[in-house]
Amino acid sequence: MMINKLSFEKPVYVLAPLAGFTDLPFRSVVKKFGADLTVSEMLSSNALVHNSKKTLHMLQKSALEDPYSVQIASSSIEIVKEAVEILNTHDGIDIIDLNCGCPVPKVVGHGSGSSLLLDLPLMGSIIQTIKDTSNKSMTSVKVRLGFEKKNHIEIAKMVEASGADFLAVHGRTRVGKFKADVDYDAIAEMKKAISIPVIANGDIDSYKKAKWVLEHTGCDGVMIGRGAVGAPWIFHQLRTGEENISNILKHEIIMEHYDKMITFYGQHGVAMFRKHTHTYSKGYRGASKLRDEVNRISDISEYRGVLDDFFKNGTLA
Ligand SMILES: Cc1cc2nc3c(=O)[nH]c(=O)nc-3n(C[C@H](O)[C@H](O)[C@H](O)COP(=O)(O)O)c2cc1C
Repeated sequence: MMINKLSFEKPVYVLAPLAGFTDLPFRSVVKKFGADLTVSEMLSSNALVHNSKKTLHMLQKSALEDPYSVQIASSSIEIVKEAVEILNTHDGIDIIDLNCGCPVPKVVGHGSGSSLLLDLPLMGSIIQTIKDTSNKSMTSVKVRLGFEKKNHIEIAKMVEASGADFLAVHGRTRVGKFKADVDYDAIAEMKKAISIPVIANGDIDSYKKAKWVLEHTGCDGVMIGRGAVGAPWIFHQLRTGEENISNILKHEIIMEHYDKMITFYGQHGVAMFRKHTHTYSKGYRGASKLRDEVNRISDISEYRGVLDDFFKNGTLA
């Protein structure tokens, strides 16, 4: 039996999985600021079973990520079993998380992600299969409050009854996508209804909000997604209430993030860093000029130079 590295004695601070953002370079930068848990981007069980090179690359973690959770999506008991057997051969993974929240048509159309909320017995069987097959220390599930209607209590009870060790909930339905008001009362009801730890997620972006959500819901932790994009230092702020992060530190972190992207993706890292440049430069003087400029650069060191100059000398607008 593996040692359980994630303790819920104090509230845990988790970086949410965000496909296209929370890759190894970003997670390793975030980790420095005190995230208790980082989760891979969603991996398709099918892709794992087919030995997809891209998926295996996405599985890699930074040495700092300890514990590390890998999130998988699936709609089939047979395939999820095979996918977990493959993950069993990889060391350094502590948790396997099942995605039951993704709203995008491509995923929902395959019967995975938030689709599973429409078939709770199937969701339960998939969770149980992961739990029974996995050699990792924990199994977790990430859900929404429902698909169209909220059936969050039923969902929570099924997750618990199927053997999951903890649950993360994004406080919206599938129909609510990423915009509807987050229903923190419903999250509190889920927490009350079950005895495994529950992590609250949705629109948490400050110390005050995190504190309020923890108190209001009674949850065992908070999970932060979009609030960390362009601000990997948010975990330090969430824990300490410290608002100010110096531009010198920001500059250092942004350069480290860029360098890690190049190490991980090679040349392609340049194009992939554009979206991060856009979010990092928000609020800086000359941000739109910088965005136009970097959109045209594909040379690794030229891009680095422009980035370095901008953030070294950057002032807020
Ligand atoms: C661009 C993007 C990608 C996402 N990718 C995933 C994913 O791969 N797996 C998942 O469970 N949720 C995914 N989510 C949902 C987030 O994990 C999170 O539940 C949601 O954004 C609400 O939290 P936030 O308000 O802190 O961002 C994604 C959200 C966004 C905006």
